[in-house]
Amino acid sequence: MGISSVCYQVIMAANYTQVCWVEKLYLNFTQIKKALMSAYLNSILYIIDIHIKYFTRVNVMNEFELLVMTSEAWLNTVLQDFSTFLIDHAANERKASAMALSMLTHYPDRTQLVTAMTDLAIEELNHFRQVIKLIQDNNIELQSDVKDPYIMQLRDNIRSGRDNYFLDRLLVASIVEKRGSERFALLATGLTDAKLQHFYQNLAKSESKHYLLFLELAYVYFSVDDVVPRLKELLKIESEIIVKLPLRSALH
Ligand SMILES: [Fe+2]
Ligand SMILES: [Fe+2]
Repeated sequence: MGISSVCYQVIMAANYTQVCWVEKLYLNFTQIKKALMSAYLNSILYIIDIHIKYFTRVNVMNEFELLVMTSEAWLNTVLQDFSTFLIDHAANERKASAMALSMLTHYPDRTQLVTAMTDLAIEELNHFRQVIKLIQDNNIELQSDVKDPYIMQLRDNIRSGRDNYFLDRLLVASIVEKRGSERFALLATGLTDAKLQHFYQNLAKSESKHYLLFLELAYVYFSVDDVVPRLKELLKIESEIIVKLPLRSALH
């Protein structure tokens, strides 16, 4: 082998190494590009997925209105004996907290419900503490609970059977929260004390979120075909109960 032949082979080997290196680099670049494209596409798909879920949820979750609005007569009754109303209000907040705890105890396998009810129990108990402070600041004496005819009659309409019972509990809770929100908002319009007015306006917002929370949970665990017709029935039942309730200085 002549010197020129050796040089030729060295040059060819060097070129081959260079080609391999370039090919490797190109391969790496192609893989990186593919990975980036994939990540980019995944991000786009993820965003689309979120939007589909959001809009589906919004479309599916039809917010509802109560069939009967609270009368001015109720507002006047409460304003005439606000101390008695406060005692009943405190009891309602405490019972709402207890109800949330009861729900999560009853359905420990439903993760979303357990998380939501834990937060709700704390929030309602915080409302209870705020009302208790109002009661104590005004030197009002707490009294033992009086049975709530509105809640009792609604409970009588909760069906038995595992699924029916669960769905009705969620929907009744949603309606009760909606009624609470409607009444707190109305009460705020009748109060003259700015601090109290602000307190009840905030409570109305808070209870409105709870109404949506229970409604959303109903749509998490049940289909639209299960929720909508039963919700309509329960709203009708609630309206019939509310118009027949005797007027008293209480939330219901
Ligand atoms: Fe509350
Ligand atoms: Fe609430």
